Amino acid sequence: MTKILVTGGLGYIGSHTVVELVNAGYEPVIVDDLSNSQLQILNQLEKIIGFKPAFYQFDLCDEQKLRDFAASEPGIAGVIHFAASKAVGESVVKPLKYYRNNIYSLVNLLNVYSGKPVGIVFSSSCTVYGQPDELPVTETAPVKPAQSPYGNTKQIAEEILIDAITSGDAKKVIALRYFNPVGAHSTALIGELPIGVPQNLVPFITQTAIGKRQKITVFGDDYNTKDGSCVRDYIHVVDLAKAHVAALKLMEKPDFSGFDVFNLGTGIGNTVLEIITAFERATGVKLNYEIGPRRGGDVEQVWGDVTKSANELHWKAELDIDTMMSSAWKWEKYLSQNTL
Ligand code: UD1
Repeated sequence: MTKILVTGGLGYIGSHTVVELVNAGYEPVIVDDLSNSQLQILNQLEKIIGFKPAFYQFDLCDEQKLRDFAASEPGIAGVIHFAASKAVGESVVKPLKYYRNNIYSLVNLLNVYSGKPVGIVFSSSCTVYGQPDELPVTETAPVKPAQSPYGNTKQIAEEILIDAITSGDAKKVIALRYFNPVGAHSTALIGELPIGVPQNLVPFITQTAIGKRQKITVFGDDYNTKDGSCVRDYIHVVDLAKAHVAALKLMEKPDFSGFDVFNLGTGIGNTVLEIITAFERATGVKLNYEIGPRRGGDVEQVWGDVTKSANELHWKAELDIDTMMSSAWKWEKYLSQNTL
């Protein structure tokens, strides 16, 4: 079996990708420092895939530890690099934490696997587009000045990867620009585990519905959109996970070389109010929400053109908004009834 290093493999997107790797016949090897994930996710993964995947706990910023890992796991054929800090607001307060975690770890990975035939899949973000001039946004749209240190780390990381391809340090790299990943695995055994008060829309919705939060605030209803609330391209995390397998398969083709980038979205934009309505429709649960002021740093609307992903990655999102909402709700209910 082909061994794939999954950094951040116990995190939200990482854990779902571990499942899809196993479904596709790969052997995932997880590295995670547990800074924003829980060890118990290994047990949850075992319940889904039938065995406990290989797991190493260390910080990728420690180059020596990464070298020791590479020596003890010599057969790694690909790396899917999720491990990174991802809270936009925190990155403004603690920029150095973000530059350290998100940049050092990538540079160390590139150094340790330099010159080796190891394909790298990198977690990028639609945040690199800022507020695009044209919608849906394609991969050729200009990268706009980053609105946060977090966003800047994604832009810098893409540049580092391109330079590493040019120098020959890396041979094959695919950057995946995620739109808004939501939802949970159909078994409700894994899902998003926000620490503290969720910053993102869907975990805030499900925590409000379960009674952990009193109400949810819609950040602005005076945008130039169909109902005044912001528009995003929400994508089911299982669809997103499958795209990582598609990226590995593309890099396995002998004619693939160098750097490529793909949008991972559904190609459909939904407003915040539409998401709330979809949640109520899909779950039958009424949500206590209010309209509040805009949130600083939010773009008005963004959704992706997914033509290139369909044609070249041979991948398309399949799960609809209602499935995203019902699976997120099932997971929230699982968490309220079980200790991980
Ligand atoms: C943000 C980042 C994105 C990052 C992602 C990771 C920006 C511009 N984007 O996405 O780069 O990859 O987080 O987590 O910083 N909303 C409410 N009420 C809430 C929470 C959210 O109305 O309580 C609205 C927001 O205004 C936004 C939408 O819901 O319109 C989605 O917000 P969120 O889930 O935080 O994701 P983004 O801001 O799109």
